[in-house]
Amino acid sequence: MGAPCVLALRRPAQSRNEAHYETSSRLHGCHDRAVSTPARRQHALELFAPVAPTYDRVGALLSLGQDPRWRRFLVSRLPRDGGSVLDVATGTGLVADELRRRGFRVTGLDQSPEMLARARARLDDDVELVEASADAIPFPDATFEHLTVTYLLRYVDDPAATLRELARVVKPGGIVASLEFGVPGGLWRPAWEAWVRVALPAAGVVLRSGWWEVGRFLGGSIRAFWHAYPLERQLQLWRAAGIGDVRAAPLSLGGGVVIWGRRA
Ligand SMILES: C[S@@+](CC[C@H](N)C(=O)[O-])C[C@H]1O[C@@H](n2cnc3c(N)ncnc32)[C@H](O)[C@@H]1O
Repeated sequence: MGAPCVLALRRPAQSRNEAHYETSSRLHGCHDRAVSTPARRQHALELFAPVAPTYDRVGALLSLGQDPRWRRFLVSRLPRDGGSVLDVATGTGLVADELRRRGFRVTGLDQSPEMLARARARLDDDVELVEASADAIPFPDATFEHLTVTYLLRYVDDPAATLRELARVVKPGGIVASLEFGVPGGLWRPAWEAWVRVALPAAGVVLRSGWWEVGRFLGGSIRAFWHAYPLERQLQLWRAAGIGDVRAAPLSLGGGVVIWGRRA
């Protein structure tokens, strides 16, 4: 069932892109076909609001310094054509910043006002920021040349439908690229389990201010997602969403996984 169109909020009135946003909001503010339940949405909003101020530093720490490298690899999947990119689940704007540095025209989308406030502080006005749900993207079909998305699909009810919604706004021939946590296999699995079952919750206790919740939630969330959607199943969902030439690269022994493909 559809969430209210008010999810598609726009930048403040002083924004120089206001006219563009108002137009697209009027025309495309409500897609009722892939929206997660209010409980799901609320959970993600409450999880990220308190950690937004410390997200960048602690996030890098909790991934043992790996995820900045993963983001660079994600962005390197796109051709350096200076085209427009929608960065979905942009959070504090780390991927958007990398895209901007590589000469792309970037729009960042996220449903968390607190995370977007940090992104606004990081990025200058060259980057458009939109507060909206990835389930109901307030842009017409084939708006963007490319799309990046980071750590999103564990927070939606129907990853297949969300992938279709992401693909919808990309022009034919454009690249869709995602970064998500993975679960390492073989000998590294016990070390990963120790990390998420012991070290992450312990770090949460020390860091507090929201990290306690994240520390308890993250390992189970990653494990459950990879159980429900092993890599081959994810690649099928990508193809079913209308994305071809789909490829995947496990990073850091499988602790991170980048998937990318070309919009058909
Ligand atoms: C782990 S953060 C990733 C932030 C950033 N892209 C990065 O590289 O670290 C996940 C982000 O997804 C956002 N998010 C979760 N569910 C969403 C949804 N349905 N629509 C839009 N954003 C969502 C959260 O608000 C959060 O900012």
